[in-house]
Amino acid sequence: MKILLLDAQACDVLRGQLADLLMDALDLERRQALCYWQDVRMAVAAGTCRLLAASHDGTLIGTVQLDLCQRADGRRRADVQALTVHSRARRRGIGGVLLRAAEAEACALGRDALRLAAEPGSGAEALVHDLGYARVDGAAGSHSVYAKTLLMPEAA
Ligand SMILES: CC(C)(COP(=O)(O)OP(=O)(O)OC[C@H]1O[C@@H](n2cnc3c(N)ncnc32)[C@H](O)[C@@H]1OP(=O)(O)O)[C@@H](O)C(=O)NCCC(=O)NCCS
Repeated sequence: MKILLLDAQACDVLRGQLADLLMDALDLERRQALCYWQDVRMAVAAGTCRLLAASHDGTLIGTVQLDLCQRADGRRRADVQALTVHSRARRRGIGGVLLRAAEAEACALGRDALRLAAEPGSGAEALVHDLGYARVDGAAGSHSVYAKTLLMPEAA
């Protein structure tokens, strides 16, 4: 398995596979899935989003996004969004690998304050708890909000 950091061009090349992955996770029509990834592509091109994907034998099996906060007081913040693993590839550690890869990318960008939303009682909640995320006040719809502060390498 490889973890890829997708740029806008890669989003174009892989748009069909990205749509397949989203339609596996959500009850969406292809047109809606393609529109979703077009929005993500624009955010990637604008530099406000990092998109990482897990690939096995040339097929995408999972993705995660890092939404980079653009507020002046949020330069160290990133929101982990849409962590998704294909239903046929779950419980093999791929979700954990993707989340750790997103953390490494956040660290490289100097963003140590991570947040994400997970459904209470879900597998995602178990996963993020295992990786050191702690529940914080607030909610995102029916989801609870979790936070983690990354340990950044000290400047020499
Ligand atoms: C949540 C999700 C990304 C997990 O991906 P995954 O590749 O299956 O996760 P992993 O195999 O890395 O799981 C690591 C650990 O998390 C926990 N976990 C993951 N899925 C679980 C589930 N369905 N039930 C209970 N625990 C679960 C377990 O502790 C697991 O370790 P184990 O398999 O040794 O018991 C995947 O189920 C998914 O895409 N769900 C739909 C979208 C979603 O809910 N995204 C989360 C947004 S935060």
